[in-house]
Amino acid sequence: MRVSGKIWMYSAFIVLNAFFLGNTVFANDSTKKIDAVKEKPAPGSKADTLTREDARMAYLIYNLLDENKKIKGADLKRGEELFYTNCGACHGNDGRRFNFTPNQRKATYLGATARNEMPTFWYLMNFGDKKRGMLAYIDEFSLQELVDIAGFAQTLPPD
Ligand code: HEC
Repeated sequence: MRVSGKIWMYSAFIVLNAFFLGNTVFANDSTKKIDAVKEKPAPGSKADTLTREDARMAYLIYNLLDENKKIKGADLKRGEELFYTNCGACHGNDGRRFNFTPNQRKATYLGATARNEMPTFWYLMNFGDKKRGMLAYIDEFSLQELVDIAGFAQTLPPD
């Protein structure tokens, strides 16, 4: 065999080896990745380090808001009933008992917060604000009930 033939054979051998070696390395790598996905902590489990606040807010952003910042999947009739029986006493059935801005010329009511600042609304409804006197509802209602209330609140008059 000529020298150039040998060189060709050796290079082919090296390339093939590299190919198989590479395959095993990458194969291992991808199984590791799959394991990592499997090991993702279950929501609410000990290994899940998201705070309750973060998890609730993430749920709003990823699952509830459509592209117009409207709440998806709310039962408005049930939201209305829940609002009248639980929120109306303080906020008024039209949500206009509290003005949330000190600006007396342009008042903004609960309906405006729900339409324009749903993350604020969602946070305040879930976790309350002791200083301002707003209660936390995360342990009072199911997630779906809170979604219904939030959806209904977006139909309240903003001003
Ligand atoms: C015991 C009375 C009370 C009840 C019941 C109540 N709230 Fe409130 N809420 C308040 C007070 C007081 C504030 C703060 C008012 C202020 O800062 O001027 C507030 C503030 C809020 C805010 C903040 C709005 C903003 O723009 O900052 C949201 C949202 C809210 N309430 C939603 C609700 C919902 C939804 C319910 C029913 C599930 C509810 N509240 C029931 C008293 C109440």
